[in-house]
Amino acid sequence: MTESLSITASAIDPGLLALPWSTPLADWSSHDIVYLPKGISRHLVRFATLSGRVVAIKETTAEMARREYDMLGSLDRLDVPCVQRVAVIDGRWAPAPRGAAQRDATRADGRHGEDAGGKPLASALVTAHLRFSLPYRALFTQVLRPDTANRLVDALAVLLVRLHNVGFFWGGVSLSNTLFRRDAGAFAAYLVDAETGELHEGGLTRGQREHDLDVAHTNIAGEILDLAAGGRLERGMDAVEIADGIISSYRSLWDALTGTETFAVGESWRITERVQKLNALGFDIGEMSIRTTPDGTRVSIQPKVVDAGHHQRRLIRLTGLDVEENQARRLLNDLDEYRARTGASDDDEEMVAHEWLTRVFEPVIRAIPFELRAKLEPAEVFHQVLEHRWYMSQARGVSVPLAEVLAGYIDEVLRYRRDEATVMGPATETLTVPIDLGSSAGPGSGSAGPGSSGPGSGSSGSGSVQAGSGSGAHDEEEPTGDWRDLV
Ligand SMILES: Nc1ncnc2c1ncn2[C@@H]1O[C@H](COP(=O)(O)OP(=O)(O)OP(=O)(O)O)[C@@H](O)[C@H]1O
Ligand SMILES: [Mg+2]
Repeated sequence: MTESLSITASAIDPGLLALPWSTPLADWSSHDIVYLPKGISRHLVRFATLSGRVVAIKETTAEMARREYDMLGSLDRLDVPCVQRVAVIDGRWAPAPRGAAQRDATRADGRHGEDAGGKPLASALVTAHLRFSLPYRALFTQVLRPDTANRLVDALAVLLVRLHNVGFFWGGVSLSNTLFRRDAGAFAAYLVDAETGELHEGGLTRGQREHDLDVAHTNIAGEILDLAAGGRLERGMDAVEIADGIISSYRSLWDALTGTETFAVGESWRITERVQKLNALGFDIGEMSIRTTPDGTRVSIQPKVVDAGHHQRRLIRLTGLDVEENQARRLLNDLDEYRARTGASDDDEEMVAHEWLTRVFEPVIRAIPFELRAKLEPAEVFHQVLEHRWYMSQARGVSVPLAEVLAGYIDEVLRYRRDEATVMGPATETLTVPIDLGSSAGPGSGSAGPGSSGPGSGSSGSGSVQAGSGSGAHDEEEPTGDWRDLV
């Protein structure tokens, strides 16, 4: 009964009321549902349109929905990459079947509900669908290759370091609980499932961090083994070795970010060196603790506050473009090259950046035909065009003009990729195949292909691919081919 429906949201979208909350999510019609790839999960998750955007809806208990909603709000405020919360829907009630409803209508006390044959429905957590993000199984067709696997694991390590850095203990670290966006040849990872997380204001203990790492290692190994069992892992790849990568990547990044360095007083350049090293890794130092030994001969430094997004912030300041960290690095390199090429080195940096934006970046993006614009984000397109220029120039032994490169890239590469933006559409857009439910919470399907985003990445994976639509137990979409071919 909608009388008891309660919606919690920081900004109420009236469209929320129009969704069929009195129907179990599993029974929502294809009119309300959008079919997009998703990871394996215990709860039923489906996508729907809400006021022109796509949202993910997860049915769960009222307590868990509220807890996760609060946690996502805190993580968002702490500026770590995660999906954005939209609302919690409580008090859902499926009306009584027709006959019972009629009996109910005759009741003198006018009471509704279970007595009359209606039944309570699970609460729902609504989050915004992260545009251009994909679950790891949807990032490749056919088989997962070592290079793609390592890049996924590296991206997850960066996410885990960032979460630990703000005092977030995840508890459920896994590839399935992460969404990936392309980031100039690498991936950027976003937390999608905060259900098991805890925020510790005083920071995490070593034991808590190690526990998360342990969970990550076990889950990744399981997820990769599951791909292997389904014939979706390149031959010769060792699941445990891939999982080991999370430990080494995490540790080296954590040490680079937080480790104490001690050196002789005369070597103060080591402070600058440390700052530059962190900047190169994409982090800024907010605060550095510097101590000298009692005899004054040695100095210890330790970064105290580090923020990710060093290149992102610089690019936003110069151009207003808000992109992923590696994309920002790539665009800034091109900007620097432009500056050198045009002899504008002594000019004001912001002025040159504006010139580069209007003369180089924007014309490339505007040249992409409208119908191809959902394939990749603009910054990723630009990165790929630069890669394409490099390959073409290498092959010809001369520098190929950007206009020519662009035409070639659009026709030979971009046109053959599948859309990675939100696919708004009916079930015919769906690319799901049943997953192996025998693997319970573990991942069930996978595929392969170049995770790499160089021009070569338009590889033509073909054919039967397992879809990224995870809750196969619930979703009934028909397999219609593989939309990740040529990704
Ligand atoms: N906002 C979102 N944007 C894109 N995909 C999403 C979003 N929310 C959920 N998903 C997809 O749905 C899947 C399941 O969501 P989630 O992990 O929160 O469910 P769960 O049942 O809590 O998982 P678990 O089994 O790990 O407890 C995710 O792997 C992801 O692919
Ligand atoms: Mg999950």
